[in-house]
Amino acid sequence: MKKLLTLVLALVLVMGLAANASALTVAFSQIGQESDWRTANTDNVNAAIEAAGWELVYSDGQQKQENQIAALRSFITQGVDYILFTGVVNTGWEEVLTEVNEAEIPLILLDRIPDCADQIDYEAAFGGDFIEEGYRMVKWAGEYMKTIGMDSAKVVIMEGTTGSGAQVGRTEGNLAAMEKYPFLKLAAQQSGNFTRAEGQAVMESWLKSLDKIDVLIAQNDDMALGAVDAIKAAGLVPGKDIIIVGCDSVKAAFDAIVAGDMNCTVECTPLYGPTVEEFILRIEAGEEFSKEIVHPEEFVYDTDGGIAVDDTVSIKAADVIDSRQY
Ligand code: AHR
Repeated sequence: MKKLLTLVLALVLVMGLAANASALTVAFSQIGQESDWRTANTDNVNAAIEAAGWELVYSDGQQKQENQIAALRSFITQGVDYILFTGVVNTGWEEVLTEVNEAEIPLILLDRIPDCADQIDYEAAFGGDFIEEGYRMVKWAGEYMKTIGMDSAKVVIMEGTTGSGAQVGRTEGNLAAMEKYPFLKLAAQQSGNFTRAEGQAVMESWLKSLDKIDVLIAQNDDMALGAVDAIKAAGLVPGKDIIIVGCDSVKAAFDAIVAGDMNCTVECTPLYGPTVEEFILRIEAGEEFSKEIVHPEEFVYDTDGGIAVDDTVSIKAADVIDSRQY
């Protein structure tokens, strides 16, 4: 009898948790829609929330910190059950995220982790290792140049949105790797704001003002693809006259690599939807996580594969292009 009672109680508890979990409202403060990566990230996270049967409250910050701050305050007023947050820039979030904490709404940080992360409470945090991604981009270029016998090159670094975690981290990684390859000489460094249009405009101006560009390190694929258009318009051959390394590994970059317009793309996955769902279910079940930021496993893709990049070896893009999801 006692055993039966325990079983019934356990069942009621599990059913209660499941019922609560099915009635959740999950709010997502997204940065905007600046790139293919961002679109894939929004679609993937939102689809996972809806597929779990939860109510989604989505806000597109349109690249403005003030919009994101207003969205977070509105989530608090609405009394949502969870807040997912990625910030357009790294700084200036302490006040509003403290308000989220005071409202006791569980916070999940994804993609870009704000500088104030060690001063606030959050349930879980996961995103790309931006420093490592930046390091891999330049390391790939240095190693690739050795294989083609080039011993000197002028390099331009096209940065993402100034002050964003992805720009700050990738620039740190880019510059750290440059030091290991003294034959790579930095010729210019400028933001293309993570968009294709600005990537094209920045490359157009570099092609006019610089004597020579051998390598473009573009901190995302959208900017790399914009630069490809500018290079073609200037009568040069992208991928040959200028070696092009992007970041994100979106499908369009794979197409460009296969077409010979780009040489390499370093992966940064946007597919956090399943992780978000898993973490929420585990939090609902009472699990607690460390403050550690979880980085997904990521790879490097290029024309032929086989270039040793830090702790991985590049994969030939054409071999895996059909399985790209974004
Ligand atoms: O934070 C991730 C970065 O943001 C992606 O590399 C870029 O494409 C996006 O805009």
